[in-house]
Amino acid sequence: MQDILTHIADGVLTLTINRVDKKNSFTPAMYAAMAHGLEQAKADPAIRVTVIQGDVTVFSAGNDIGDFLQRKPSTQESPVFQFLRAIASHPKPIIAAVCGPAVGIGTTLLFHCDLVYAGDNAAFSMPFVNLGLCPEAASSLLVPQMMGYHRAAEALLLGEPFMAEAAMEVGLVNRIVPPTEVNGMAQARKLAAKPLASLVETKRLMKKGQMAQVLAQMAEEGDSFARLLQEPAAKEAFTAFLEKRKPDFSKVP
Ligand code: COA
Repeated sequence: MQDILTHIADGVLTLTINRVDKKNSFTPAMYAAMAHGLEQAKADPAIRVTVIQGDVTVFSAGNDIGDFLQRKPSTQESPVFQFLRAIASHPKPIIAAVCGPAVGIGTTLLFHCDLVYAGDNAAFSMPFVNLGLCPEAASSLLVPQMMGYHRAAEALLLGEPFMAEAAMEVGLVNRIVPPTEVNGMAQARKLAAKPLASLVETKRLMKKGQMAQVLAQMAEEGDSFARLLQEPAAKEAFTAFLEKRKPDFSKVP
């Protein structure tokens, strides 16, 4: 079974994150498949809208932690950065349907979607600092912008999770529905029936003001993230997760 399922119908590409036994955590191959799907959607005039979804119990637990431990120093050409650039600059509408935990990139990718629907079981978190890391996906820019600085500090410095209601209050989520009804398809079909050139131009105009800044922030975060991945704090956090214990940062800088 593939970890990213792709399905095209009615002008809509659906990318389903499908690694439920590992809580839909992302491996490099999964980022590459997501980036490929978005590139295909960009190039194919028959695809007008993309839906990104997980399982009814979990959207994504973020990056695979074992992969973090083994990863050689990342470059801007790593699959994760290819995916992030593809989603941030994608010209057509993207809808996300989120149920259950959305951790790390499971939350930050949502800042690059146009519409976000959440189950009432959705729980968002960006625990980068708790893992000895720093934000990615331009979240250090987009989270304070959307939530205001102090709520962003709670989410990014304390790494505190927040539920669907709070996400809707700050504008990250459009609507909350029961988990079994979280399905971007109804809205995707509505968008797919609209004139594509108008959708693309409207999205371009809404995003153009800070597209260059978003991509620059993403690149700078990427360099810092790659450096921090090699530091002792991150190694302790990942090892602790895999050993199912609390991390001990008292002896690391
Ligand atoms: N990377 C690798 N494996 C992961 C994972 C991740 N990010 N998240 C979960 N898993 C694995 C667990 O190791 C476990 O594997 P096992 O059955 O072989 O022991 C399995 O998925 C189930 O996870 P578990 O923690 O038991 O599920 P849960 O329902 O109790 O909790 C989460 C779900 C998502 C809240 C929890 O798994 C979690 O916090 N994951 C880590 C999130 C994270 O820090 N991601 C990195 C962000 S940058």
